[in-house]
Amino acid sequence: MPDRTDGYVTAVDYTHGYYSGLNPLRARLAFLNAGLRIGPVETACELGFGQGVSIACHAAASPTRWHGNDFNADHVRFARALAAASGTDIGLHQDTFEEFAARSDLPAFDYIGLHGVWSWISDRNRAAIVAFVRRTLKPSGIVYVSYNAFPGWASLTPIRHLLVEHASRAEASLGIVQRIDDAVAFFDKLLAAQPAYAQDNPQVADWFAALKDGDRRYLAHEYFHDHWAPMYFAELARWLAPAGLSYACSAAFVEHMDVASLSEIQCKTLLEIHDPLLRESTRDFMVNRGFRQDYWVKQQRTLSGPQRLAALRAERVVLASPELPSKVRAFLALNKAAPRACGAVLEVLADHKARTLGEIEQALRPKGHDLAQIVDAVVLIASCGNLMAAQDDAVAARLRSRTDRLNAYLIERARIHGDVEHLASPVIGGGLEVGRKEQLFLSALKQGKTRTEDWVEEAAKCLGLPIDDSGLKEAASAFATDTLPLLRAFQIF
Ligand SMILES: C[S@@+](CC[C@H](N)C(=O)[O-])C[C@H]1O[C@@H](n2cnc3c(N)ncnc32)[C@H](O)[C@@H]1O
Repeated sequence: MPDRTDGYVTAVDYTHGYYSGLNPLRARLAFLNAGLRIGPVETACELGFGQGVSIACHAAASPTRWHGNDFNADHVRFARALAAASGTDIGLHQDTFEEFAARSDLPAFDYIGLHGVWSWISDRNRAAIVAFVRRTLKPSGIVYVSYNAFPGWASLTPIRHLLVEHASRAEASLGIVQRIDDAVAFFDKLLAAQPAYAQDNPQVADWFAALKDGDRRYLAHEYFHDHWAPMYFAELARWLAPAGLSYACSAAFVEHMDVASLSEIQCKTLLEIHDPLLRESTRDFMVNRGFRQDYWVKQQRTLSGPQRLAALRAERVVLASPELPSKVRAFLALNKAAPRACGAVLEVLADHKARTLGEIEQALRPKGHDLAQIVDAVVLIASCGNLMAAQDDAVAARLRSRTDRLNAYLIERARIHGDVEHLASPVIGGGLEVGRKEQLFLSALKQGKTRTEDWVEEAAKCLGLPIDDSGLKEAASAFATDTLPLLRAFQIF
């Protein structure tokens, strides 16, 4: 019988992450900002959904009908439990990519997403995915794909090589976690010997220091498969061409604003490159990119200037946090080319209510800010993860009961497990980060306990922490003043 895993690690399950990049709602702002037409996403698919937290949140929190596959039985079981909890009909298939590509019972998709998959599988599986996309993506459909990229990985690839070489020589009876521990200890010893490789590539030590204490399940899935291949952007373009895909735009909002990540001379050099694919490849060298998240489309359709502005005016957004990272605050304060309307947009959105860009434009007209400035500000704030695309109120209201059920399940689960750190919001059509402590405070609230002392007691009991000197009291008071209003506005609680 052929090996279904094709060299992929299955001895340990993957982590329970949620990835907002997979949320189709997010694609709208990116496409419209890039001047590209985008249609509604009625059917969507996630390839290699892992534990299924992303697909479960997206399916429960949006009207989109989702399908997905993952060949790991434990992953599918967990994802199905989440789908059952919310009462959402999700097509969760325990197929390999090849089996999934051969299915005849799937609809045509408006959107196909794969996160953390492309760089970690064999060429044969990549070919199965391309065949799947060619056959099932609708003519104007979108593919979101993230992958490890060159040149960012150029100096780090040898570390992965040596770690895997070491692990592959270990006794077969040793489990993957032990083999990873041993390989990491081996590399640590190597670094202590100050090899010329580490001297010539000084970033190696920092990178390894961050990796060394990482979750072994994450490391197993990130580095220890038989197949692991960072790719150049142009190589990916060649892979996807047979599926009829061409590059649309970056799914990372920071890439939409060169002035935020590139120097003046870098921006000028890029502007002189007229071939969009060569420009994209060159941009990767400007920032030494090691990870890309992009949208690809089957049939690229551009918007005229007025069409673009009209569509942007109708786009709804909501603010999760007004606190921009210090690096971005410094950029806003010091760079003359930085979006001028950021502070004003943050003020308008401070109440966490969803608004269209047209409404923001009206509110800020007296201050002299035009739509172009507002769009720039919105894209910059979105690049920090502080702002998200929002669904219509009527759609959110219809979905609320499903997300409430999913969140109730996750909050109850948080009393024992600390692995899912997101809850679903019908406002943003996806997940929002809510840490375990905060989920435990919600658990207490759900039991009718309204005093912060009772929230602290509930969290302390579940986490096995003391009530005093554990930071729980401070966390509970910050939760009451900052987090709870946000969770209410996002209809998570
Ligand atoms: C690194 S994980 C990423 C999971 C998820 N997309 C996420 O970002 O959390 C890759 C997933 O692909 C699945 N996978 C790997 N090879 C596969 C194959 N040949 N067929 C189906 N699923 C596969 C694994 O089981 C794993 O859950």
